[in-house]
Amino acid sequence: MTKLSVRHLLGIKNLNENDIQTILDTATQFKEVINRPIKKVPSLRDITIANVFFENSTRTRLSFELAEKRLSADVVNFSASGSSVKKGETLLDTVNNILAMKVDMIVMRHSSPGAPHYLASRIPANVINAGDGTHEHPTQALLDAFSMREQLGDLAGKKIAIIGDILHSRVALSNIFCLQKLGAEVMVCGPSTLIPKFLADLGVKIGHNVKEALQWCDVANVLRIQLERQQIKYFPSLREYSLYFGINKAMLDELDKKIVLMHPGPINRGVELSSDAADSEHSIILNQVENGVAVRMAALYLLAQQ
Ligand code: CP
Repeated sequence: MTKLSVRHLLGIKNLNENDIQTILDTATQFKEVINRPIKKVPSLRDITIANVFFENSTRTRLSFELAEKRLSADVVNFSASGSSVKKGETLLDTVNNILAMKVDMIVMRHSSPGAPHYLASRIPANVINAGDGTHEHPTQALLDAFSMREQLGDLAGKKIAIIGDILHSRVALSNIFCLQKLGAEVMVCGPSTLIPKFLADLGVKIGHNVKEALQWCDVANVLRIQLERQQIKYFPSLREYSLYFGINKAMLDELDKKIVLMHPGPINRGVELSSDAADSEHSIILNQVENGVAVRMAALYLLAQQ
């Protein structure tokens, strides 16, 4: 099996195309494994992994924990809430204390962009970024690419529209890096206040009309509005956002082709997606969640070989 060019999975920006293809191909093998009656393999039997979460999570955290257990690793889970972080302990002291208990890998989510990079340069363990603020969410982008590849085959030349709050989304940036490295064309669509200007310099198409974006794309990856990261008002109200950028099933049905609908979760039903769209035959949202386990198994397994 090919090795990765990196010791840590900090972002898609640091990966080359071969790394991405290797993770996706390895995930295909692990997906077969976890669909068997006996879902576990002994690959990481001697490895201990800590999931260190300083921000809330449902999908990423459970998916990493399941992936680690399917690989037979020992697993410990840490949440900042209820921990000694509340007594003033620093990030580095917290992680060094976890490592003193003979932990080999750290999976970390943190609200500060760059926090996993800071750790990776200071500790001996492998670090996986499970989302750092508004920066990157590499395993989400990998599972999104894996899910798109299952639907469309090779992504070279395919058209992917990312619709919603691009400015505050780590999923958007990791998706853009990943999809461009795989040869796809990427459009972002949303209110101009929620689209960072630098994306045009990366060759990303910019749009503000959701019907045109849906007509253009093969896949619509829809993002929620991240109100928790917004210090100012970027648009008048969620109702107004929904009116201009919300997607419902009728909008998908009236297209002259069938497109794939994705969302990384959590969905704000009735804002960026209506329930009839989220639960329609266009949607592969729960397939994304299913694929997250196999993709994270692949990332963990390949990093443990470094
Ligand atoms: N997609 C995603 O990161 O979901 P969670 O915040 O629930 O982990």
